[in-house]
Amino acid sequence: MLTDRELVDLAFDMLERAYAPYSNFPVGAAIACADGTVFTGCNVENAAFGSTICAERTALVKAVSEGHRDDLERIAIAGRGQDYCWPCGACRQMLSEFNPELIILAARGDGQFVSYPLHQLFPHGFGPGTLTQER
Ligand code: THU
Repeated sequence: MLTDRELVDLAFDMLERAYAPYSNFPVGAAIACADGTVFTGCNVENAAFGSTICAERTALVKAVSEGHRDDLERIAIAGRGQDYCWPCGACRQMLSEFNPELIILAARGDGQFVSYPLHQLFPHGFGPGTLTQER
């Protein structure tokens, strides 16, 4: 099982794969599953800017499409900035669908990182349970 530090380092490795010619803001991500499987991702931008996908959602769709839906434990997110690389709102929403308890490891350019459970960054999210409540 990877340590948090090792998972963060994998997210940093993914900065090399980022396609970010418009923002010049590469982001890398790595998701760890309960069985130790890891899915990585990077941001992939597009000339039609709105078609860009974030690093976290790239990693998430890789995990889910490979059958890892219910066992996502941690995600590391790395950027080169001075501030920790926090997940955007859309990524928080997408991640919360599969595990509101997911551990977020947000790293900054100097390699330092902080750890929060997703529900602290994304309280009272709209989730699958919201839709199945009685109306
Ligand atoms: N980006 C991510 O990859 N993850 C986030 O959570 C926030 C933003 C990317 C999208 C875009 O390619 C660049 O960072 C600047 O917004």
